[in-house]
Amino acid sequence: MSRHPWKIHNAEGTFRVIVTKTLPGRRWIDLLTTADCRIEVCSDSAVLDTEIIKAAIGHQCDGAIGQLTEPWGETLFDALKAAGGVAYSNYAVGYNNVDLDAATRAGIPVGNTPGVLTETTAEMAVALTFAAARHVGEAERFLRAGRYTGWLPDLFLGTLLHGKTLGIIGAGRIGAAYARMMVQGHGMQVIYHDLAANTDLESFVADYNRFRVSQHLPPVVCRRAASVETLLETADCVSIHTVLDDATRHLIDARRLTLMKPDAILINTSRGPVVDEVALVDHCRRHPDFRAGLDVFENEPKMAHGLAELTNVVIVPHIASATRWTREGMATLAACNVAGILSKYPLWQRPDILPFLEKDPPHAIPSIVNAKALGLSGQGGLDVKFK
Ligand code: DGY
Repeated sequence: MSRHPWKIHNAEGTFRVIVTKTLPGRRWIDLLTTADCRIEVCSDSAVLDTEIIKAAIGHQCDGAIGQLTEPWGETLFDALKAAGGVAYSNYAVGYNNVDLDAATRAGIPVGNTPGVLTETTAEMAVALTFAAARHVGEAERFLRAGRYTGWLPDLFLGTLLHGKTLGIIGAGRIGAAYARMMVQGHGMQVIYHDLAANTDLESFVADYNRFRVSQHLPPVVCRRAASVETLLETADCVSIHTVLDDATRHLIDARRLTLMKPDAILINTSRGPVVDEVALVDHCRRHPDFRAGLDVFENEPKMAHGLAELTNVVIVPHIASATRWTREGMATLAACNVAGILSKYPLWQRPDILPFLEKDPPHAIPSIVNAKALGLSGQGGLDVKFK
């Protein structure tokens, strides 16, 4: 065991499961305890490096729950396999920190935590959107610094978003939830870019338009963009909700930033490297009316030189999913992924993940992202090989 402090729960459990950070709530501990696991939790808030995690896996380890800040690659999956490990869950819906090929080669199923971050993350995207549009960070700093000397007609003039055009890059669960909030709450028009059409979102807007028309309000438009370029040129506010992979790394670069309206707003609650952060700093410096709201950064926890000084950028430290309900839900799902594999449960076949948050969770494994690559079917228990 490393010099890092590890707390042990259910010391008598048969299966040894390591968890690299303390997770919110207690339910995940109860679920792993019920599955006969001895749970070893690192209570250090520092990001653990690969060697420390490898040492924690040791010679015998059945499963692990890791963090998006840790590179789960060949070294760790081979170590987990050598220790008899059969289960890994990321404590996140995103898994760009996981080398899925390495996990699959080691025969280890990789879980994630979808479905409980949707509204929470979309709400933070909304918060950043309005904070950026209305200079909330800058105005608060101004006030706290004692610089407010009285109401003025032109103090911190912002942008009215009602009725303007919203560009959504990545109209999956979170992107679509954000779009619904902005359409219903603020009558925004939507242009979205995704590999596939989001017909649910389009039908939602069509239904909502029936209501608008009944209220003598003009209908709003929801359409899929032919290209990212068209979306960037059209939208007044662009919000990024795509996954990070080779195709989306630096999707928003210097060239694409120049396509955006000079007073547009760019929101990113997905992954930092989707935006070329150095190019964004340069663009924001040269376009004072352009605004950005960022929850994620290219090299977290660091920020590109100059970003923190920009008054037209609102920044928060990767907290878009940070509500108690969501973070406890993520812990529950991560625990159910690991406990489900160790209990040889079948894969959950329904898109609705919320039954796992109920008192008696289904006897199933909520979400395994490399199930297909591993040839795991939903039927019967997972055929994992125990040491
Ligand atoms: C995730 O789960 O991928 C989020 O980024 C955590 O906030």
